[in-house]
Amino acid sequence: MTTWKVTQLGSGEDGEVPGRVRIRTETPAPTIASHRTEGARINDSRPVVFDINDMSVYYGSSRALMNTSMRIRQHLVTAVIGPSGCGKSTFIRSLNRMNDSIPSFRITGQILYHGHDVYGPGVNRVEVRRRIGMVFQKPNPFPKSIYDNVAWAPRNLGLKSGLDERVERALRQAALWDEVKNRLRTSAMGLSGGQQQRLCIARALAVEPDVLLLDEPASALDPISTAAIEDLMHSLKSRYTIVIVTHNMQQAARVADQTAFFSLDRVDQVGTLIEFDDTEQIFRSPRDGRTRDYVTGQFG
Ligand SMILES: Nc1ncnc2c1ncn2[C@@H]1O[C@H](COP(=O)(O)OP(=O)(O)OP(=O)(O)O)[C@@H](O)[C@H]1O
Ligand SMILES: [Mg+2]
Repeated sequence: MTTWKVTQLGSGEDGEVPGRVRIRTETPAPTIASHRTEGARINDSRPVVFDINDMSVYYGSSRALMNTSMRIRQHLVTAVIGPSGCGKSTFIRSLNRMNDSIPSFRITGQILYHGHDVYGPGVNRVEVRRRIGMVFQKPNPFPKSIYDNVAWAPRNLGLKSGLDERVERALRQAALWDEVKNRLRTSAMGLSGGQQQRLCIARALAVEPDVLLLDEPASALDPISTAAIEDLMHSLKSRYTIVIVTHNMQQAARVADQTAFFSLDRVDQVGTLIEFDDTEQIFRSPRDGRTRDYVTGQFG
């Protein structure tokens, strides 16, 4: 059993109460088999990071996502695609409990992370988010220096020794080091949008998470910055498990090993997982007509 001391939330999105957490590293609990969209054959041998079972998400009385079951595997890039409003953000924000700050949010079913129930009793949200980092659509650097942005979460976690090396390592991993190494003490707000987004990725990487969740990380960026983020994903996946929401079909095809297509259910217009498979299968020969229509641009 391993115990970590945790003092503050990694993303800065909401004001989390500091605390201690215990996460056991033991044999995963048995999973519930229901409504699983199977078929991701090439990558089936990889360890499972998220085992999602019959998950539904509600905002008040309104259901945003229904009966979603899928497995996200280690050191792969998993893309989440689908039309606006189908629950992509709801889905990935549920993986690290980022939706908990929304009062009307409610989740049913189960998300196992390395066999542990993410929403189980006694699980500390701060620790969940340290292990499962997140980067948002709009770059959101703190109004601090470049160095202090990257050092922020490690400092709050008490990881103060070797901080310079940690900051440099995160900036190198985010492919930003060469561009900022001579201006580390200047404001992050002076960086370009693409640089700010890579800084946010470095900030997430600085606490050495296990998973990186990216919600449309390149949608506000020019093609060169977008290419830089895509290159980054290729280089990061040997160390991290990555889940990326994107509206860009080419981007999903370029970066993702597996792709989940969500859409709105025809009857009640609730977000639903239509198909999950190896990316090549989704784009070359999808099993469901709705996936085919979407990836070939015939949606709507
Ligand atoms: N905080 C919230 N409160 C109430 N309803 C919400 C909230 N966030 C999202 N929803 C609803 O849940 C549904 C799914 O929204 P979500 O943001 O997950 O979709 P999305 O697929 O990410 O869309 P987009 O591609 O536009 O980002 C929508 O009907 C949305 O209105
Ligand atoms: Mg969204």
